Amino acid sequence: MRKIIIAGNWKMNKTALEAIELITALKREVNDIDKVDVVVCPTAIALADVEDLLQDSHIGLGAQNLHWEDSGAFTGEISASMIKSIGARYVIIGHSERRQFFGETNETVNKKIKAALKEDLKPIVCVGEVLEEREAGKTFDVIKEQCEGSLANLTNEEMGKIILAYEPVWAIGTGKTASPDQAQEVHQYIRELLTKLFSEELAQSVRIQYGGSVKQENTADLMSQPDIDGALVGGASLESDSFAGIIKASCTISK
Ligand code: 13P
Repeated sequence: MRKIIIAGNWKMNKTALEAIELITALKREVNDIDKVDVVVCPTAIALADVEDLLQDSHIGLGAQNLHWEDSGAFTGEISASMIKSIGARYVIIGHSERRQFFGETNETVNKKIKAALKEDLKPIVCVGEVLEEREAGKTFDVIKEQCEGSLANLTNEEMGKIILAYEPVWAIGTGKTASPDQAQEVHQYIRELLTKLFSEELAQSVRIQYGGSVKQENTADLMSQPDIDGALVGGASLESDSFAGIIKASCTISK
């Protein structure tokens, strides 16, 4: 039994004040919901303000990135211990935008996962193919390489603390959602891969989110697929109504 987890990746959006307004409005709509796990991932500078408002809430807090070192001369970076000290419990790692624009590789993703786990943060690790790879029939190869590289040398216990997110890059911010069948096919493939890399029991327990143009209208169809255990939401998490709509639509699904 895997509990659905809906996370909002706010990316580089919302000033600290706007973040406060958004979380205040979201709490009004979903604070009583505990059937699914809800997480928000604001920018680093809004983490503390949002955490203050989440003290009395089920909603979890996550960062969008971290550095693998604990401290030092790494201008502009933040570490796992800093994220933890603010009260956040999750961190997105290896988002395709970081892979595409900031030189993130499977090796750096792997180091970041280990740093996050050391501080008891739950990594949300992203994988996904670009359009040319899908069109060339290489989706499974790409996913395999990203999973094997990113999850290298982790113990079963460590893997058990990780959430995976399958985000086909061609579906991010484009309005082109993967069909439930297309998404399910890759999620099932990832679970089979986890069985080989770790164990059947572990593979069955890991939650795999789908991300890429998730909105209220397509949530129930996606979440009812057997291997889709949640959503990582970009654009639609930036307004309380649309994010709450996704959360509520997820609550209608019994897994
Ligand atoms: P959109 O929901 O805006 O397509 O973004 C998805 C995403 O990248 C979440 O991490």
